[in-house]
Amino acid sequence: MTRNERANFGSKLGVILASAGSAVGLGNIWRFPFETGNHGGAAFILIYLVCVLILGIPIMIAEFLIGRRSRANTAGAYQKLAPGTHWRWVGRMGVLAGFLILGYYSVVAGWTLEFIGEAATNSFAGKSAAEFIASFNGFVSNPWYPVIWLVVFLLATHFIIIKGVEKGIEKSAKIMMPMLFILLVVLAICSVSLPGASAGIEFLLKPDFSKVDGNVFLGAMGQAFFSLSLGMGCLCTYASYFRNDTNLPKTALNVAGIDTLVAILAGFIIFPAAFSVGIQPDAGPSLLFITLPNVFQQAFGNIPWLAIALSIMFYVLLALAALTSTISLHEVVTAYLHEEFKFTRGKAAKLVTAGCIVLGVLCSLSLGVGKNYTIFGLNLFDLFDFVTAKIMLPLGGFFISIFTGWYLDKKIVWEEVSNNGTLNIHIYRLLIFILKYIAPIGIGLIFINELGFFK
Ligand code: PHE
Repeated sequence: MTRNERANFGSKLGVILASAGSAVGLGNIWRFPFETGNHGGAAFILIYLVCVLILGIPIMIAEFLIGRRSRANTAGAYQKLAPGTHWRWVGRMGVLAGFLILGYYSVVAGWTLEFIGEAATNSFAGKSAAEFIASFNGFVSNPWYPVIWLVVFLLATHFIIIKGVEKGIEKSAKIMMPMLFILLVVLAICSVSLPGASAGIEFLLKPDFSKVDGNVFLGAMGQAFFSLSLGMGCLCTYASYFRNDTNLPKTALNVAGIDTLVAILAGFIIFPAAFSVGIQPDAGPSLLFITLPNVFQQAFGNIPWLAIALSIMFYVLLALAALTSTISLHEVVTAYLHEEFKFTRGKAAKLVTAGCIVLGVLCSLSLGVGKNYTIFGLNLFDLFDFVTAKIMLPLGGFFISIFTGWYLDKKIVWEEVSNNGTLNIHIYRLLIFILKYIAPIGIGLIFINELGFFK
């Protein structure tokens, strides 16, 4: 396929918003708070921020340059830049990771649809914290409702994917991202003004380093990769649709900045609210879905129409944020099947959707009727989360940094990063140094530590 035949994003803002749309999603608003809660709060956040700075941003620039230079799907990209080598396996592992993530991610994305319905029928009204927990647990372990919602969600993703890059992906991101941001700010303000919220703010701001162990590092690194959509070729695939004048380092900074801001805002919504009603911060994946309905009740219970309106808006936007991420996951696998196996785009998309429905249904059932089937002590849902976020994505990042830092001709790297010398890139040497040494050694050490070699 030649350069001209491939689709492109239409504008610079479209590039940033579509990439940020991929990055911002359930990872920020659902996964970040529960990982923070499980790992003790502020110390985890500090380590997370370091991971974003020294691993996330450089590896994002590396993925961007691999994608734009090759103008191909992620496996094809390595094939073009390193023909006849085994590097294409890095791309293939990414495609597999994308497929697995999409499988379990759509389960949670489906939950957001159920919650839109609950918000609209005012069923949060008058419930106690314990009742919220019980009704959430009842819902996720039901064999039918979550399954129906995840299928609906995957079909919506499918619909946008077949509309193509500019009209589908770019247009939806341009509308949804700004709305989500405004609503998050409003909710954070409400949450920090709840009675007893200060304990939650302290949890977010006062690091307790006694809780830090190897697990915390692995958790923070995995969260950084997951939240920034890194290590599996997602941003590499999007970059293959970037224009030639897109400033890659600046785009990476913007995307990482927006993503981090949204995660921190989500923290300021969830923790003050959780402490305010006495819910444990380490409640796990259910945290978002039990504290938030509470925020709406506590903050606006006296003005029912406002409680209903805000809660509907929030879950709609959460679903949309998840949608811009599922689109990007779907696109990785669809572009791969379309370009490598010569399926039409429509047929490739159908295969991906059907495969993900099967995976998603299994993951959803693993939280209810199938919860006794475990592998390494984890149900399928948790297993997919663990294997993708904490192993496959960092491993992908490890190889991407070695590929760009050591293997790829530095002339190519320089041309892409500086747009053929037309941009002034002060951080170029630092970038190469990080990709060559800091990122691979850092990721390697965290892996070795977690696997217990130092213990
Ligand atoms: N970054 C997305 C989120 O935070 C999830 C995602 C991971 C999307 C990997 C694409 C690739 O929700």
